[in-house]
Amino acid sequence: MSTSRRVEAYFTDVAASYNAASKGRVWGLVRRREAAKLLESLGDFRGSDVLELGCGAGYYTRLLLQHGARHVHAVDLSARMIEQLPRDGVTPLVGDATTIDPGRPFKVLVSAGMMEFVPDPRATFVNAARYAEPGAVFAILYPTDTWLGRAYQRFHRRHNLDIALFGAASLARLTHGTGWATAAVTSAGPYSACARFIREGA
Ligand SMILES: C[S@@+](CC[C@H](N)C(=O)[O-])C[C@H]1O[C@@H](n2cnc3c(N)ncnc32)[C@H](O)[C@@H]1O
Repeated sequence: MSTSRRVEAYFTDVAASYNAASKGRVWGLVRRREAAKLLESLGDFRGSDVLELGCGAGYYTRLLLQHGARHVHAVDLSARMIEQLPRDGVTPLVGDATTIDPGRPFKVLVSAGMMEFVPDPRATFVNAARYAEPGAVFAILYPTDTWLGRAYQRFHRRHNLDIALFGAASLARLTHGTGWATAAVTSAGPYSACARFIREGA
């Protein structure tokens, strides 16, 4: 079974309970802090259409809409995750972030907790650049190479998923030549950080 197929199968299995789990006491607390940092990294997106890669059950899709996004085009590998999305203000797209064609360019792109599952994360940046207007913002949330990040990695190894951990230097190497310039990197929690990229060519 390919890595993407294993990732899709894992998230399909947990899709029905994903939203409820996000509201748990400990994960809920971590999620709220990460969300505040990710929204801060995006800047002012009120009134914008947003491309969200790896939307899962829509935790960030809902937040984006609550904070003024006009519409969210939400992509995920797992059709079962996509079924959990809100209906209003959302265009659901089942597909791979490294190859999906959302059919139009965006000024605001976001991806939370997906990059670590992608076998070739650079391909995500390359594909996202195809659908980003010059000057567009792309904010990502990713796990860091810290002891808690490594605990998160071990957690996923137990179900046969080998996730990546990132740092500012590895992200700079990954994105070099993809059309994205790093604008800021900020800690988002005990095992995560946010990076804000700007589409070059403005
Ligand atoms: C940890 S979950 C995060 C979901 C959501 N962003 C959130 O924070 O609740 C990762 C999601 O990324 C999706 N995913 C992983 N690899 C992907 C890929 N190559 N293309 C699209 N979605 C992907 C998974 O199916 C899963 O729903």
